[in-house]
Amino acid sequence: MAIIMDGNGRWAEAHGVSVAEGHRAGARALRRVVEAAIDLGIETLAVYAFSTENWTRPTDEVADLMVLLSETIDEELPDLAKQGVRTRFLGRRDRIEPWLEQKMRLLEARTAHLDTLHLWIAFDYGGRAELVEAARRLIEDGVPAEAVDEAALAARLYAPELAEIDLLIRASGELRISNFLLWQTAYAELVFTDTLWPDFDASELARAVDAYSARQRRFGARALR
Ligand code: FPP
Repeated sequence: MAIIMDGNGRWAEAHGVSVAEGHRAGARALRRVVEAAIDLGIETLAVYAFSTENWTRPTDEVADLMVLLSETIDEELPDLAKQGVRTRFLGRRDRIEPWLEQKMRLLEARTAHLDTLHLWIAFDYGGRAELVEAARRLIEDGVPAEAVDEAALAARLYAPELAEIDLLIRASGELRISNFLLWQTAYAELVFTDTLWPDFDASELARAVDAYSARQRRFGARALR
């Protein structure tokens, strides 16, 4: 499952608080939803926390999001680790400040043995950038054109072990994929909810899973009559 956690800014505006507070409420929602996902038996959850395009936001907001990631690593993710959550990050690493990148790596190492839920936090992530990087790696690896197939490319994504996404949820009423997991969501079922991300909770997650369960997935084949 994957989630686009959108609507922190609008939530902040509606509550008369700063955008930073909106993102903070979004981080609390993330923790809530990971716990709800464990209860539902979901094995893999990928969330979009910071896109390659988010660097163009005001400097203060970018800095706030970096601090928020650091605080989330310190305060929320260790508790989730106690519940068996393995956390990994997805995206570019070269533009993140070294102190933060080191924290990310440490958390990945410390939770590497856990298996209840695999949490992927997309940070400085863009689906197109991921595909461009995979193409570059194919060339660097000297793969001849006739050997380039889906498996060869998938093996060179940021995280080849991240499975195909079955269900993609987007909060906040926007009807877009916004460059998230373009390869992995090829056959994902999409569920959109008007709820702003900071208000997203266990019942909202359960509703999305129910909607998914009612879908008939065909993967391009003809439906059985
Ligand atoms: C989109 O809301 C959300 C983000 C760009 C950041 C997502 C971050 C979190 C949910 C907090 C968890 C974060 C970390 C770092 C673990 P928006 O600001 O685009 O909302 P708007 O569309 O209403 O303005």
